[in-house]
Amino acid sequence: MEAFIQGIPKAELHLHIEGTFEPQLMFDIAKRNRISIPFNSVKEIELAYNFDCLQDFLDIYYQGAGVLIHEQDFYDLTYSYLEKCAKQNIRHAEIMFDPQTHTDRGIEFKTVINGIHNACVDAMKNLQVSSLLIMSYLRHLPQEAAFKTLEQSLPFKKHIAAIGLDSSEKGNPPSKFKDVFQASVKAGYIPLAHAGEEGDADYVWEALDILEIKRIDHGNNSLQDDALVQEIIKRNIALTVCPLSNKALQVVPELRNHPLKKMMDLGMKVTVNSDDPAYFGGQLNQNFIEIQKALSLTKKDIYELAKNSFEYALLDKNTKLKYLNELDAFYAKNK
Ligand code: ADE
Ligand code: ZN
Repeated sequence: MEAFIQGIPKAELHLHIEGTFEPQLMFDIAKRNRISIPFNSVKEIELAYNFDCLQDFLDIYYQGAGVLIHEQDFYDLTYSYLEKCAKQNIRHAEIMFDPQTHTDRGIEFKTVINGIHNACVDAMKNLQVSSLLIMSYLRHLPQEAAFKTLEQSLPFKKHIAAIGLDSSEKGNPPSKFKDVFQASVKAGYIPLAHAGEEGDADYVWEALDILEIKRIDHGNNSLQDDALVQEIIKRNIALTVCPLSNKALQVVPELRNHPLKKMMDLGMKVTVNSDDPAYFGGQLNQNFIEIQKALSLTKKDIYELAKNSFEYALLDKNTKLKYLNELDAFYAKNK
């Protein structure tokens, strides 16, 4: 089963580039930028990665991102993640980045986007991993701040496929960002959002009805409301589920309590993702391995999850077809 998971072609649709910052790379970049971090070793950093809830994690995650200063830093961070994709047979990655985490520290928008974008171009060329970018607004900040970010992004519009909404969910409902989502869609971005990770089903309703999102990041708490589940199915909207993240942030007590299989059995379209792999104890394939074991998923289940990852990617029809054909060829040989 592990070899099957390793080999199967797949896409990752829910990944924060700042959440791929491995302790060793954080040390190296902090050193070359002469920034001190409150840890003396990789081990010490790893020991600090023990979270009670989303906010607990976010506090450390934003602190870690604080050592990223130069375009090269963003390039190295992104390329390092894309190398891991190649090793895991991830053919395509949809990468979220949080511009406000950096622009609020005085880093220019162009520094962030150029570093990330150039790494994506090189990874396509050198590693044959395709990718696209999702610019995420931080929901703990006011809507006006998101408008400023939208404005800053416009000269780089061709490098950005979609917008997202992340950070502290509770107390920051999707409706807070209604106008900036409308303006972003007008500018050509596809609307996506985190919803139902810690927030209740009513936040997922808002994300659907007010922000008109095309994919739900997490969405666990949709299961609180049967009518919502039926609406998500009716609208053919996929959930990007993150098992190890949910365990690390105590969204679920144990992986064996994870709702992923239940979602699939209800007819929801689900994908498996790593969210912030450097912080949650595993890359994408490790997420597959652990959730497969915990829920006794079959090879057919894994195939279905991988298939969803391509079908619900923000890719054009022909590219999707190319990946789906590759997936089917693998499955025919290895099922
Ligand atoms: N930013 C990075 N990871 C996140 C998550 N799991 N939820 C909300 N915001 C995030
Ligand atoms: Zn996330």
